[in-house]
Amino acid sequence: MTTNSLKGKRGIITGALNEDSLAWKVALKAYEQGAKIVLTNSHFAMEKGKIEKLAKQIKSEIIPADATDMDELTNLFTKSQEVIGGKIDFILHAIGLSDNIRKETPYPELNYDSYHKTLDVSALSLHRMLSVAYKMDAMNEWGSVVALSYIAAERTFPLYTDMAEAKAVLESIVRSFGYHYGKYRKVRVNSISQSPTKTTAGKGIEDFNDLFDFAQLNSPLGNASADACADYCLTLFSDYTKMVTMQNLYHDGGFSCTGITDNLMQVVAKMRK
Ligand SMILES: NC(=O)c1ccc[n+]([C@@H]2O[C@H](COP(=O)([O-])OP(=O)(O)OC[C@H]3O[C@@H](n4cnc5c(N)ncnc54)[C@H](O)[C@@H]3O)[C@@H](O)[C@H]2O)c1
Repeated sequence: MTTNSLKGKRGIITGALNEDSLAWKVALKAYEQGAKIVLTNSHFAMEKGKIEKLAKQIKSEIIPADATDMDELTNLFTKSQEVIGGKIDFILHAIGLSDNIRKETPYPELNYDSYHKTLDVSALSLHRMLSVAYKMDAMNEWGSVVALSYIAAERTFPLYTDMAEAKAVLESIVRSFGYHYGKYRKVRVNSISQSPTKTTAGKGIEDFNDLFDFAQLNSPLGNASADACADYCLTLFSDYTKMVTMQNLYHDGGFSCTGITDNLMQVVAKMRK
């Protein structure tokens, strides 16, 4: 449904790698709602992903930037404002990577170089982006920043290893920078804690399908899809949520408030038989 809820708004969307990416869906829907968008991703993603296809579809420019590199982020914000003709109204942070997960390293044996990289790419990158935008005064008043998180930030999911810490740091940056950017320019900063979703990053987790099915069974509404996540992001970019900031917002079909569902009880009962 097109309501032009983002008409006249300018946004930077990170993390669109392929059609499965959460950011891909957000970009498509934001474009449908009238936003002008700059896409960005790492140089690796430029080679391996399909971002150019998306850019054509939504008449957008791509400005590559490694989200751990301050010079590249400065270039991203400078060029983005030139390309889309003004200050930025919204940013989607949809960046995650863990070599420890990719290599299936058990939590007690984490490789510390990889651990640092996980934290830098998946969490500190949000601080870096906000810091660059803040110093350049690159965002409009009442702008909106959304970062994608996962409930392993606050409860243990052993397969999520060092990404759990990355998400905990990410959610803390949301609160802390949300305070500072709110005071400075009324820019709001929130995270969305999304259900397991079958994307490249999601599927990188060993036994992801089990995690997905467990969450599906233990959520009264079932898992939230990537499309539904994109719709939720759009509400946070729009003017309908101007006073929402520094929040971690659950978008998980009720998983975060559920002890156990009837569905899961039935599975447990079957195990006894
Ligand atoms: N898929 C899930 O189950 C799920 C659930 C909750 C939250 N999330 C979060 O959603 C976000 C998007 O992930 P996704 O599931 O769409 O997977 P994805 O693999 O499509 O997206 C991850 C993106 O991070 C980008 N990236 C990695 N290193 C980077 C760097 N140095 N600089 C810039 N970009 C870099 C990748 O190129 C990729 O586009 C991530 O933060 C992820 O943790 C995913």
